[in-house]
Amino acid sequence: MIKPKVQSAINEQIKKEEFSSRLYLAMAIWCEINGFPGASKFLYQHAEEERVHMMKLVHYVNERDGKAQLMDIERPTDEFDSLLDLFEKVMDHEKFITEAINELYEVALKEKDYTTMNFLQWYITEQLEEENLFKTILDKIKLVGNDKAGMFHIDKDLDGMAIAIEPIEE
Ligand code: FEO
Repeated sequence: MIKPKVQSAINEQIKKEEFSSRLYLAMAIWCEINGFPGASKFLYQHAEEERVHMMKLVHYVNERDGKAQLMDIERPTDEFDSLLDLFEKVMDHEKFITEAINELYEVALKEKDYTTMNFLQWYITEQLEEENLFKTILDKIKLVGNDKAGMFHIDKDLDGMAIAIEPIEE
């Protein structure tokens, strides 16, 4: 049976992943109504991916004879100055999530919960990949600045980067 401290730390992370999904959904909506269809498609899919991150945690807690618990979550920001502003906020958020995963790992380590530590390796790798992905996108946006043709190409690039979501492992 999962220890109470580990369970409650994972439940906090469930909340954070659920919030991430809603934040990226709000961002996808902003892109859709502000003329960035590629960025919008990319972020709609990323919102789904965050839901997968949440669901993996839900199943894990329940499989360890614990109880996944949903919490109240705040409304995400849905106003952005530009596509650059939006992706800077994505990057800040992903850094916050990486920090949260590290803290969760720390809880599992203190509780000597080796199974959870092993399970969390997937999230540690995933965060590294996500931070790299968003850094690449941000660098491209910074490079084109206010150039309209450049922005058009970035949006096309993001359309191509919208990947199929991997299924939730049972
Ligand atoms: Fe679930 Fe984008 O971290």
